[in-house]
Amino acid sequence: MSSLFTPFKLKDVTLRNRVAVPPMCQYSAEDGLINDWHRVHLAGIARGGAGLVIVEATAVSPEGRITPGCTGIWNDEQAQAFETVAASIKAAGAVPGIQIAHAGRKASANRPWEGDDHIPEGDPRGWQTIAPSAVAFGAGLPKVPRAMTLDDIARVRQDFVAAARRARDAGFEWLELHFAHGYLGQSFFSPHSNQRGDQYGGSLENRSRFLLETLAAVRKVWPENLPLTARFGVIEFDGRDEETLAESIELVRNFKREGLDMLSVTMGFSTPAANIPWAPGLLLPYAERVRREADLPVSSAWGIDTPALADGAVRNGQLDLVMVGRAHLANPHWPYHAARELGIDRPSWTLPAPYAHWLERYSVKQD
Ligand SMILES: Cc1cc2nc3c(=O)[nH]c(=O)nc-3n(C[C@H](O)[C@H](O)[C@H](O)COP(=O)(O)O)c2cc1C
Repeated sequence: MSSLFTPFKLKDVTLRNRVAVPPMCQYSAEDGLINDWHRVHLAGIARGGAGLVIVEATAVSPEGRITPGCTGIWNDEQAQAFETVAASIKAAGAVPGIQIAHAGRKASANRPWEGDDHIPEGDPRGWQTIAPSAVAFGAGLPKVPRAMTLDDIARVRQDFVAAARRARDAGFEWLELHFAHGYLGQSFFSPHSNQRGDQYGGSLENRSRFLLETLAAVRKVWPENLPLTARFGVIEFDGRDEETLAESIELVRNFKREGLDMLSVTMGFSTPAANIPWAPGLLLPYAERVRREADLPVSSAWGIDTPALADGAVRNGQLDLVMVGRAHLANPHWPYHAARELGIDRPSWTLPAPYAHWLERYSVKQD
């Protein structure tokens, strides 16, 4: 019996299985506006059979984009363009989700295949970055951000609220706040980037404040019956991991109190000095610990790309939902192949009829 191919219910939303496509930037938008690339990419992946498809990190303001090619949802035109995306994901049988984001001090960068580094000072393609403190990330991202004022903090919080409203109006049914990967939310939490002396820096309570206030404000406008989730890096692999994990679990408990429905467990990426022990499923023990100690459903990603590993993560109670990213880029029908490998009867049911009919018919003869 497969555990991966069982339904998962969160609030009023039921996913057809526990395979989710995590947000993956395509760096292919113009002025934040999506185009045919995004439409085809997302509809194609949704047709592959996953239960949930989350649209890439979509900026809540122009300055919150990672690169000039990142998607945005800071105006109505951008939001309307997402309507067909949400509808096509849904028509394919998956639940449409979106990640809303602000890149903080990692913003104003070149696309990964054009350097993955900060756009040089003075280059008109770049812009002023903002962050909790005027501290650069370093390495290929040397730009020193402007330290946010209290007005900046209030404005960005409202940008998240406006983005959440637009996402709901566009037809998304699952919202993920991007508080991970060294971007703005994570950088308020991490002492690597937050050196503020006011109520937003210093103690765990103060470093949690921006994230909790933003979550609480978004929860007020995001429908109570729909899942509100966050992606957060619970560990940095920077040598002080036990302390970071303990603080992170305390934060997640507070997230839960503010109405968070699920956490996508990931890494912090707050310092270029991290020493990450790359291995398939490296985050599974940490995800399991967050799930148990914070008593909240969790998902996670990073190399959980074999059907056996994904299925085992659900069966062993490490994850409620498995994020399968790059394997979907390599093979948008990953769930179909995973279902076959796990011995599911008639796995082509994961695909739409115009594909499934033929694969079912011929797989009988081939097998
Ligand atoms: C092309 C690409 C774009 C990504 N963009 C995002 C993003 O927008 N938001 C995010 O939280 N993570 C992003 N990630 C990280 C993925 O969501 C995922 O965590 C990562 O690919 C590891 O999972 P995997 O081993 O299954 O690929 C991206 C990864 C890739 C490969």
